[in-house]
Amino acid sequence: MLQRIHRPGILSLALGLPAASLFPSSGLAQAAARVMAEEPLALQYRPTLEPLRRQVVALMAQRGVTCAPEQVFLTAGGQQGMSLLTRLLLDPGGTVLLEDRVYSGFQQVLDPFQPKRLTVPTHPETGIDVDAVQALLERGERPALLYTMSDGHNPLGVSMPLKSRERLVALAREHRLPIIEDDAYGLLQYEPHTLPALRGLEDRWVYYVGSFSKVLAPALRVGWVVVPEAMVGRLATVKEASDIDTTTFAQRVVLAFLESGGLPAHLEQLRAGYRERRDTMLSALERHLAPRGAKWTKPACGMFVWVEFPSSVDTTALLGRALEEVQVAFLPGQAFSVAGGRSASHGLRLNFSHAEPAVIEEAVARLGQVLARS
Ligand SMILES: Cc1ncc(COP(=O)(O)O)c(C=O)c1O
Repeated sequence: MLQRIHRPGILSLALGLPAASLFPSSGLAQAAARVMAEEPLALQYRPTLEPLRRQVVALMAQRGVTCAPEQVFLTAGGQQGMSLLTRLLLDPGGTVLLEDRVYSGFQQVLDPFQPKRLTVPTHPETGIDVDAVQALLERGERPALLYTMSDGHNPLGVSMPLKSRERLVALAREHRLPIIEDDAYGLLQYEPHTLPALRGLEDRWVYYVGSFSKVLAPALRVGWVVVPEAMVGRLATVKEASDIDTTTFAQRVVLAFLESGGLPAHLEQLRAGYRERRDTMLSALERHLAPRGAKWTKPACGMFVWVEFPSSVDTTALLGRALEEVQVAFLPGQAFSVAGGRSASHGLRLNFSHAEPAVIEEAVARLGQVLARS
């Protein structure tokens, strides 16, 4: 199926890609030129880049997080951050706690450990079911970690309400439960009032994972984690064992870009562009899919809209038809189910950041045509 999604001519709302037209290419080019001209050791093996850790501390304030540079560890993207944290927290065959619809990349991180995967329900409007987490912990389950996203959830697009955040971190504290908070999309906020990340509410048990992939460019492979200082040395040891000190050149470019003061204006532009695409998608859904019984929620953050159909619609089968009949791609709910579960089989995820608004409109209209023929 994946190969068919990538065929030329397909209108794709499938992957979580940023809009290439919104990359800050000239700012990054200038930053790279400056690094090469001014830093004789830019291409040398280097230890961690202290000034970038300080820039990350400043950025974290936008997520309601107060932290120190010593608690920031730079990684080759958020994916590596999650992978390194998992290596520290989870033993082979251990137990993990997940939402029943989860970013497939985290499942890939888990696969080599062959863990027991406990799941709790997650809702498109309210996110992780904290009552279910509590019930599980109270019946004596002791997972090695809980993985969740507080904002711009992938695939649901949901941002957790404040009460859920507060209750979840209180449970983590009480039960000494490590939470990996994946905040890959947390800086892409479209509404005026934003809530603090979980790490802003709890600094001992929440291990925060951030990334420049969605706000600058994924090819830079620069991300970070915020953890208690005592964990930083252990993270450095496992990272060094796997890839020495990647991605220090890209880190320098990111640092030079941030020091030039380019980020605030770029973030504003990105938020405006993605807000427009989101709204285009929501109004297209209203016109073309609402008449087919589809329901969705308006994401305040991130890159995705989760759409649910009546249970008679199997979205994996729908994808096959959409590809063949109207050349449109999306990701079916099944792609996010934990360990082959079927809980998401009548839902699907649409990405609104990558395609131009006119393409979004056309792709959703075509999906409506396929459903009309069902
Ligand atoms: C939820 C989520 N977490 C993490 C990542 C990985 O991002 P990075 O490029 O920072 O490794 C992605 C990428 O799509 C993602 O969707």
